[in-house]
Amino acid sequence: MEKQRVATLTLDDGRSIELPMMSGTLGPDVIDIHGLSKLGIFTFDPAFFSTASCTSEITFIDGEEGLLYYRGYPIEQLAKNSDFLEVCYLLLNGDLPNAEQKQEFNTLITHHTMVHDQLARFYNGFRRDAHPMAVMVGVVGALSAFYHDSLDINNPQHRAVSAQRLLAKVPTIAAMSHKYNIGEPFMYPKNKFTFVENFMYMMFATPAEEYVPNPTLVRALERIFILHADHEQNASTSTVRLAGSSGANPFACVASGIAALWGPAHGGANEAALKMLEEIGDISNVDEYVQGVKDKKYRLMGFGHRVYKNMDPRASVMRETCYEVLKELGLENDKLFKLAMALEKIALSDPYFIERKLYPNVDFYSGIVLRALGIPTNMFTVIFAVGRTIGWISQWNEMIADKGQKIGRPRQLYIGEKRRDYVAVNQR
Ligand code: CMC
Repeated sequence: MEKQRVATLTLDDGRSIELPMMSGTLGPDVIDIHGLSKLGIFTFDPAFFSTASCTSEITFIDGEEGLLYYRGYPIEQLAKNSDFLEVCYLLLNGDLPNAEQKQEFNTLITHHTMVHDQLARFYNGFRRDAHPMAVMVGVVGALSAFYHDSLDINNPQHRAVSAQRLLAKVPTIAAMSHKYNIGEPFMYPKNKFTFVENFMYMMFATPAEEYVPNPTLVRALERIFILHADHEQNASTSTVRLAGSSGANPFACVASGIAALWGPAHGGANEAALKMLEEIGDISNVDEYVQGVKDKKYRLMGFGHRVYKNMDPRASVMRETCYEVLKELGLENDKLFKLAMALEKIALSDPYFIERKLYPNVDFYSGIVLRALGIPTNMFTVIFAVGRTIGWISQWNEMIADKGQKIGRPRQLYIGEKRRDYVAVNQR
């Protein structure tokens, strides 16, 4: 039998402890620090720079090499050969479906896309100019008030039904948020369309006109969904897992993930990147803007990543898609696109960005593609949420199915006041 590898930690008071080392199938080894609390000490790792929060079989990232695998399959292969629902099946179930399973899954999801009609009334409670992410947090959370029949998280069948409902209904809720925002009628899903065609139909069609999806644009959105489907233990996924670790229902957990995704350092980056391009306005202003970044007045949105210290593999695929879409729409000379390319060139050649390994990330290019598809800026992060829902639910399901799962509860290094006695108000 192979000997258990250990790391030995010796404290300055002479006490020492042997900590088991663990190896995954890929990626760096980890030190299991569970035993440390027996010594009455904790580790300090705010923002989780050096801490694995769980084991997972779903997604692998090598940030140094720029690799991203879903269940072992490289993202480039999936983006090129697969479709979004097949990727969803893969993430959820562990393997690619055979032809029959694929057909069955597509039919199942297609037949869950309608939402309870009463849910539509929720929208009237929001202001028309509410940010669609605010609407998403509320309405997705409200799903738990409608689907009581699948809320037993310890029942694998209930978990499967909740996953199907979330995957199928989040796009409908997202498109409804957009329609409400612009004052157009909600478009009910149409089963003759594929998952992505149907989403574009619900977003762009009106009852007055026939809607014919453009295959190049459908393919581009399909890729955006595939590229955003999962990204291991990022901020929103960790939020879903932490919320779920208390036993909360999956609809509430996914709503918490949507809230975490909203921030500009995470899913809000695609919206922020496009706003930044609009603010720069003209190629002649790029140098001045970049100087402001170097002076740390602001950050270059759509650049840098906590894990990728090499080109984000999703960005390479999205860059290619960006060219395809702009060519299809005759937008190669689009002012904002040219501006983006000028910014990309500087960032890839300037020592400030090279030294800090700040490459363009997926959201830099996805913002340009989404804009070209006619999706308004305030819907960009919503599109990310539609793609990421399958990642959240697959990770949540993996966690709940783990028999040893416990409520997540980080510790802290307390730096507040020591014990002190209460002072009456007239003596303060
Ligand atoms: N522009 C300019 N400088 C940057 C940027 C940026 N976008 N990102 C990091 N830096 C600098 C930062 O100032 C620091 O420099 P110094 O060493 O001189 O102090 C150094 O790079 C390291 O930065 P950090 O803040 O320690 O890095 P982090 O790992 O905590 O941040 C990040 C990662 C994604 C939050 C950050 O790169 C960022 O804010 N990027 C812009 C927002 C963005 O595009 N986010 C989308 C990420 S991809 C989508 C997703 O997965 O959610």
